[in-house]
Amino acid sequence: MRVLVTGGGGYIGTVLCEQLVAAGHRPVVLDRFFWGEERLAHLEVERIAGDVRDIREEWLDGIEAVLHLAGLSNDPTAEYNTEANWQMNAVATERLVALCKRKKIERFTFASSASVYDTESSATELDRSPIMCDEETVLAPRGAYSLSKVHAEKAILAAADDGFAPVIFRQGTVYGWSPRMRFDLVVNTFIKDAVINRRLFLHGGGWMWRPLVDVSDVARVHVMALEAPLDRIRGRIFNVLEENYQIRQLAMLVAGSFAIKNAPIELVETPLPKLVRNYRMSNAKLSKALDFTPSVTVLESIQNMIDKLPGAEELAHPQYYNIRWMTLLESVHTSQREYASIY
Ligand SMILES: NC(=O)c1ccc[n+]([C@@H]2O[C@H](COP(=O)([O-])OP(=O)(O)OC[C@H]3O[C@@H](n4cnc5c(N)ncnc54)[C@H](O)[C@@H]3O)[C@@H](O)[C@H]2O)c1
Repeated sequence: MRVLVTGGGGYIGTVLCEQLVAAGHRPVVLDRFFWGEERLAHLEVERIAGDVRDIREEWLDGIEAVLHLAGLSNDPTAEYNTEANWQMNAVATERLVALCKRKKIERFTFASSASVYDTESSATELDRSPIMCDEETVLAPRGAYSLSKVHAEKAILAAADDGFAPVIFRQGTVYGWSPRMRFDLVVNTFIKDAVINRRLFLHGGGWMWRPLVDVSDVARVHVMALEAPLDRIRGRIFNVLEENYQIRQLAMLVAGSFAIKNAPIELVETPLPKLVRNYRMSNAKLSKALDFTPSVTVLESIQNMIDKLPGAEELAHPQYYNIRWMTLLESVHTSQREYASIY
């Protein structure tokens, strides 16, 4: 299948492109290439260096399915430029959906986020098991990122009909190795901190729960949607996670993986902010409807990342941290036009 992958140059997108090529599909990557194009150099993929906000109808010529991942991809970058976030994550998604319908492209996946559940606990509630969110849980997004994802989800679902079968994946926090690495996601951050500082910081002891999933499992679910019977995915939402973990469990898994290699890591408790995100998510619907349960565990993935890690100096490079890279680009591009071309 000839598949448009928006954001195909990113952390998840590059792994997704590898899997698409391996499965015999022909990816066409539409990406601003914030992190350069070289992450895809090892793959036979067509590339369009463009912005989803300016998507042109002809970019969809000959496309049989769209996997939509592009946009600002975490809270800090979304809060940094809320207008760019809204235009990319919400408005551009609506427009892309309308174009797909016009071009009669029936299969469409959307990389949504577990953060739509946006559930907070106060520090005193952390000892209780938090809410288990399923796809029916009422959403009350507050942050710019989660608000834009919820808006996009609603627009996508409203467009579903007999000729358009979109599916929404609410992805947990992702971990694991990718050709375009991110070290600003909790497990990956702990690995980076273990290498650079030999110390992991746990806010309030790290009792908070989060849903987690390996990057290869996330990619797999998007690839599966290309083959899945349409009646099982049309207009449906699926949580995507391997397991729910407490942050302190993740820290212990990382610290233990280093300790076993004679590299002791210190765990340091730091004060907790007043309110923190604390929630769990169920993947029962995905397992039942698509017969797929993400299976790459945090422990396996930690081992794989440690084997592939670059040195401490390289690990500190801002390109691995979305908000640092975004602010750096801003500081080195001074003219209005160049600035606009970044955001
Ligand atoms: N990584 C996670 O933990 C996670 C969890 C849940 C959901 N998601 C979602 O999955 C998707 C991919 O996330 P990721 O971790 O690969 O992020 P990423 O930041 O590594 O990749 C995003 C890609 O989109 C591109 N992009 C950004 N704005 C664009 C625009 N306006 N036009 C064209 N391309 C643009 C970037 O250049 C980048 O290559 C995002 O939609 C994100 O919100 C990620």
